[in-house]
Amino acid sequence: MRHDAGAEGPCVAVRVPAKINLFLGVRGRRPDGYHELVTVFQTLSLYDRLRVGLIGPPGQGQHPAARRRMRLRLWHDGGATVPSAEDNLAVQAARALGDAAGVIDLAFVDERAARRALPDVDPAATPYTVLDLRKGIPVAGGMAGGSADAAAALVALNELWSCRLDRDTLRSLGADLGSDVPFCVVGGTALATGRGTALAQVLCRGTFHWVVCTTEQPLSTAEVYRAWDAHCDANEVQPDAVLQALRNEDAEALGAALHNDLEPAAFVLRPELAEHKAALLDAGALGAVLSGSGPTLLALSESESGAAAVADAVASRFAAVSVAHSPAGGPELAKG
Ligand code: C5P
Repeated sequence: MRHDAGAEGPCVAVRVPAKINLFLGVRGRRPDGYHELVTVFQTLSLYDRLRVGLIGPPGQGQHPAARRRMRLRLWHDGGATVPSAEDNLAVQAARALGDAAGVIDLAFVDERAARRALPDVDPAATPYTVLDLRKGIPVAGGMAGGSADAAAALVALNELWSCRLDRDTLRSLGADLGSDVPFCVVGGTALATGRGTALAQVLCRGTFHWVVCTTEQPLSTAEVYRAWDAHCDANEVQPDAVLQALRNEDAEALGAALHNDLEPAAFVLRPELAEHKAALLDAGALGAVLSGSGPTLLALSESESGAAAVADAVASRFAAVSVAHSPAGGPELAKG
């Protein structure tokens, strides 16, 4: 772990998968401005990795009394589109966990400012926690990259700071950070309602093979929902066919049942996405669907080699294509 001051202390690493929506039904706009959803979440084998470390006098940082004051720093390799300060969801997750666990004075040290001013941290006086984030999930692609990082921070810091909060508590802390965070804390396959935060695990047999197609221009989730308000109507399409295909390990049925009510809204904002989706089907995919609010498109194939063939056929249309499988478990923790 990179750091500039103090002795290296305990360390925890978490690998957290991306999420996809196999079904996303929008039931209408709610009084609080969010939209009422019925969605089937599943984790996908693209991962972010978060390493959290504690720097300070041995043992001090994990003592409940010492946890009352903590400094926090963040590094990431996600480029300019990933927030580097308090607006990063992993930092917000650290703050939420800190509040819940009694870290009453959590000071975020902006890395860019700190680099100019070092050495400014006296680890003997105030321990600090370093978050080191490696992005593998497409940024702003509709695959819950930011939410996965928040979930990773909740799980990793719960361990590092010895907070001993259970997953249900982490899940409800996550709901305040973003609609996808509770699912990212749990992983697997789940049916979600409400804002997307009320979860029930569902049975999924087997493994499904996907082509993940990312485009250069990100899409804002809020903007896609606003386009849905302007152009779409609530409906009552049900996820039963998706749930049955998952139970039956039936890729062909799943391909036919994939459904996302945000697609027409995203296609209004990015008409080329509709053409790309058609090209994925022409290339032999069993089904294709916008991932969440997009702009990532997902194509389902019967096998890994089938997915690779579809990926080859459409590669020139996208900034990047990769092959991945689902489901991909949940956050996995390794102590350093
Ligand atoms: O919850 P999250 O911060 O991820 O949501 C981002 C934006 O997406 C919200 O500000 C809202 O505009 C929209 N959204 C929504 N209904 C949901 C989830 C998200 O309108 N169920």
